[in-house]
Amino acid sequence: MDRIRLTDTLEMSRLVHGMWRLGDDTDTSVGHVRNKIAACLDQGITTMDQADIYGGYEAEEILGTAMTPEIRNRIEIVTKCDIVAPAGRYANARVKYYDTTRLHIVKSVDHSLRLMKIDHIDLLLIHRPDPMMDHFETGAALDEVVKSGKVRAVGVSNFRPWDWELLQSAMTTKLATNQIEISLLHHAPFTNGDVAFHQRHGQPLMAWSPLGGGALFEGRNAALRNRLAEIGTEFDVDDAAVAIAWLLAHPSRILPVLGTNNLDRIARIGDAARVRLDRETWFELYSLALGHEVP
Ligand SMILES: NC(=O)c1ccc[n+]([C@@H]2O[C@H](COP(=O)([O-])OP(=O)(O)OC[C@H]3O[C@@H](n4cnc5c(N)ncnc54)[C@H](OP(=O)(O)O)[C@@H]3O)[C@@H](O)[C@H]2O)c1
Repeated sequence: MDRIRLTDTLEMSRLVHGMWRLGDDTDTSVGHVRNKIAACLDQGITTMDQADIYGGYEAEEILGTAMTPEIRNRIEIVTKCDIVAPAGRYANARVKYYDTTRLHIVKSVDHSLRLMKIDHIDLLLIHRPDPMMDHFETGAALDEVVKSGKVRAVGVSNFRPWDWELLQSAMTTKLATNQIEISLLHHAPFTNGDVAFHQRHGQPLMAWSPLGGGALFEGRNAALRNRLAEIGTEFDVDDAAVAIAWLLAHPSRILPVLGTNNLDRIARIGDAARVRLDRETWFELYSLALGHEVP
């Protein structure tokens, strides 16, 4: 499994295991969570993607319950903060909102550390751009959590290039990555400037819902699904591996974050790394996703 260096102190596996759906699994027992992590580690997938809000603010605790020193030493933990929704510890919130104040960030970090039973977060992301963000306060808070040693690296999620530049302008720490939605069902970032901006600055992107949250295999685009399956047969992998390989083939160095809870599927995530798509095949899949050939 390839590894990608994001900062001087942080390297992550090219494929990332997402834990948004961890609490939705029919089995959230310690043994099953450990089995899923073990299936990732067997393939060299060492990076786990969390957020404070996942599972109604409970997914971090599910991971924490399964945590052991041995597991902690072998994984990188990404988590996120700034979304406050009326659930769990924010049950009294009147409305869903974003909070990028220093107090919220510092408290969120402490919660995440306690719930996951760890002494540092490898990568903390601001989950959503906050229209009320005071970039000086947020930037200083992110610098502070890195300086304190509680967080190894910081980044953002769902930021547009201008949001990134605003926040980065008020920080000494370099933002490590932007986690955005990219897939064959959500390919606009390849042409709207999002991918180009980070490629220009050499910052690897993390791609969430790289299979469209499963919609890639349910939607109306049978032609795309059939072609994915055909290519999969050529490489002796399943269609999902080909869809992930489509992201891996892009020169901007995308790190797909896969969200399956299915142990068999988790054990096969690494298959995507075996698929090499040439330029023509990349465009063939892109054209099928677009529904027409490129102009
Ligand atoms: N930063 C953000 O704002 C943000 C937003 C959303 C997600 N994320 C991150 O991205 C991760 C992935 O998101 P996601 O779960 O939507 O990603 P995904 O990998 O695109 O979708 C996974 C979903 O697709 C289903 N699926 C159906 N067929 C599948 C197949 N052949 N192979 C694999 N999965 C299949 C899975 O069901 P089974 O479990 O039954 O396999 C699961 O429900 C999350 O866990 C989270 O860490 C971040």
